[in-house]
Amino acid sequence: MTDNTSGHTSGGPGITQERRLVTAIPGPRSQELAARKAKAVASGVAVGLPVQVVAAGGGILVDADGNQLIDLGSGIAVTTVGNSAPRVVEAVTRQVAEFTHTCFMVTPYEGYVAVAEKLNELTPGTHEKRSALFNAGAEAVENAVKIARSATGKQAVVVFDHAYHGRTNLTMAMTAKNMPYKNGFGPFASEVYRAPLSYPFRDGGLDGAEAARKAIDVIEKQVGANNLAAIVIEPIQGEGGFIVPAEGFLPTLVAWCRENGVVFVADEVQTGFARTGELFACDHEGVVPDLIVTAKGIAGGLPLAAVTGRAEIMDAAHAGGLGGTYGGNPLACAAALAVFETIEAEGLVDRARTIGKTMTERLAALQDDDPRIGEIRGRGAMIAVELVKPGTTEPDADLTKKVAAAANAKGLVVLTCGTYGNVLRFLPPLSMPDHLLDEALDLLAEVFQEN
Ligand SMILES: Cc1ncc(COP(=O)(O)O)c(C=O)c1O
Repeated sequence: MTDNTSGHTSGGPGITQERRLVTAIPGPRSQELAARKAKAVASGVAVGLPVQVVAAGGGILVDADGNQLIDLGSGIAVTTVGNSAPRVVEAVTRQVAEFTHTCFMVTPYEGYVAVAEKLNELTPGTHEKRSALFNAGAEAVENAVKIARSATGKQAVVVFDHAYHGRTNLTMAMTAKNMPYKNGFGPFASEVYRAPLSYPFRDGGLDGAEAARKAIDVIEKQVGANNLAAIVIEPIQGEGGFIVPAEGFLPTLVAWCRENGVVFVADEVQTGFARTGELFACDHEGVVPDLIVTAKGIAGGLPLAAVTGRAEIMDAAHAGGLGGTYGGNPLACAAALAVFETIEAEGLVDRARTIGKTMTERLAALQDDDPRIGEIRGRGAMIAVELVKPGTTEPDADLTKKVAAAANAKGLVVLTCGTYGNVLRFLPPLSMPDHLLDEALDLLAEVFQEN
């Protein structure tokens, strides 16, 4: 059971909640695995921090050398309820002993329907909804586009600067950044168009409605609402740099979509399930998307993704048009139901807000003394710092790499992101106890002082 305030969270496997370094990072056993990986795994599958994880829980990752690292990444926003969270372990263990697979499209089971019911209830808006389950975020984004095209009879899709939607062919087209996601992997899917995003740190502080007007202008001139099936947008961009659009940007786009028969799709793959201090990032501005795409934090680390939305849109695809062998696998569904229960029982939406407040205050104190920290942004437990050359907005990717490497060496798992590679992002599991979060922030302060 998690107790965030006492500082003695055990996590699933009963791991002591303390950072411990007994070797350099990575240690000898981790290096052995890295050597095996180099021979056995395709080099296109790159690794950020090559430590061999053997256990994880609360706010700690344990490696094969006996080091204990503080986890500020959650496996890229996946283990929001913690690694091996007790309810998830219990539910999956029970399910694996009952049955592991039938394929929902062949012979259905309750878990799938229960997850769909819960998603229909929890996602923004009180309208009648339907859900369909998939394996990964990219697959769900693709299906949202399929559904929007079926419902509207139109083909074009608009995405935004700095967007990340995945690595499949259609989602590569939707993703903005060339390296490493797209380079050499074309040709990409057609009928994908890009509009400017509200990026307050870099667009001269346009207000949300103005920034939306600019995007709408591009859409109207270059695509035409009569050709446009959907706008797909991350309400807070993830890989693009944790960019929070100015207030009013998303509501203005939604209103335009409603007026023009365009499906508004929120890609909440990274922001969903309590991460941002609301159940969904759309909730911060009362945005009600027509379709919402979820994955990552939905099932505590088991592969599951979903598209949820207005019944009349979701039901537009013909029978047999949606699905897949593994989509909504029984183990993943059992895990998801346990995640929903955990979020509620442990008050994790509030916990994300508290974590966000602590991180933001401590990082702001750092920024006061360090002009290389251009901006601190994000919501809840999804916080980032954008690093720049002092006194400018010129991105400093080298510093970002250096700071991340120095943090890793101190036993802190941090991730970088951003179109310019200059954003350090923090996605702690919400099972992170206070004392570890404080220690992580102390270590970050040291890292900035030393580099
Ligand atoms: C916003 C967003 N959409 C889609 C994806 C793709 O999800 P997956 O890696 O599960 O395919 C990601 C993954 O990082 C994401 O952050």
